[in-house]
Amino acid sequence: MFVRNCWYVIAWDHEVPPDALFTRTVLGEAILLFRTEGGEITALRDRCCHRLAPLSKGRKEGDCVRCGYHGLLFDATGRCIEIPGSETVPAKARVQRYPVTVKNKWVFVWMGDPAKADLALLPDNFSCDDPGWDYLPGYLHYSTPQQLICDNLLDFSHLSYVHEKTLGGTTAIAQARAEIENVPRGIRVTRKVHDVPPPPYYKAVRQLPGNLDRWFIYDFLLPGTLLMHSGGRPVEDAEGDMSRAVRLHSCQTVTPETATTTHYFFQQGRRVEEGDHSIAEALYKSLLVAFEEDRAMITAQSQAIDADPEAPMMLLAMDAAVVRFRKLVAEAIAAENGEPAAPAQPAVREERAARSIA
Ligand code: FES
Ligand SMILES: [Fe+2]
Repeated sequence: MFVRNCWYVIAWDHEVPPDALFTRTVLGEAILLFRTEGGEITALRDRCCHRLAPLSKGRKEGDCVRCGYHGLLFDATGRCIEIPGSETVPAKARVQRYPVTVKNKWVFVWMGDPAKADLALLPDNFSCDDPGWDYLPGYLHYSTPQQLICDNLLDFSHLSYVHEKTLGGTTAIAQARAEIENVPRGIRVTRKVHDVPPPPYYKAVRQLPGNLDRWFIYDFLLPGTLLMHSGGRPVEDAEGDMSRAVRLHSCQTVTPETATTTHYFFQQGRRVEEGDHSIAEALYKSLLVAFEEDRAMITAQSQAIDADPEAPMMLLAMDAAVVRFRKLVAEAIAAENGEPAAPAQPAVREERAARSIA
């Protein structure tokens, strides 16, 4: 049900302490993260090979982790190197190790075939670690499937309604038509909205005199990562004059914890030349309010779906990006399972329906 040959964000870099154990579940597998003495992160299955106790209940000893139940000691590769009371250690005494890497403050684990772990497939979350951009890192936990959050991020028409008093501020966003293109391992969504009032949350950045032209341009990539340039510029400013524009860059990613729960990592960076760090703090506060609006709506939607899982959804033109991304996911899962590359039939029908409505 999930693409496995992908890098999934498991944590912000700062969440993994230098001298203690950290655990988080991804795709239903509890994963232990800890740092070696050199500071490098290791990712092991958080389950002792002896009697399956979570290793995170044990302790870090230098570059190793000791199980807190009967004391087996594992090195950073997952190999057991000591069994209390035993002279020898069987070769099969080991726990699974996951490829792990850090890029621009995000810690990624590779959940598929380790031989296929390819650093070239990491997303370009540059603004998470760029001196030109400033932000506060965010994390939310969702008690809903990951797919519903992807759907939400793929269709910004909801900004007009869910975020009427925060990110939206106008129904023109829902009325504007999004352009969708293919990019490697994802899609690019471009939505431009002309001559609209500044959204309430822009006040965190600056007071703007009149109406704006706004833009949202983002790539949405497997397994569920949004990388977006967005902003707004006073309509009366000359073409190309960005001196009063608000320019933001967002990196957001949704990682399934289980089939029904999800980790949501996010940030919205702003240009450092716009002022001091208090702007990033104010922006973060406003963003949290908005993302709670999403969480409340998606959680309620998820509960309504659970109450009657067979109830059909209606496809509309606004769902084109949702349909396209769902098809991509279905194709990637089929390819991993050695099934024909053709997309799942329902997805094909859905896209046709969306196209015909559009
Ligand atoms: S369960 Fe880990 S040492 Fe026994
Ligand atoms: Fe939203």
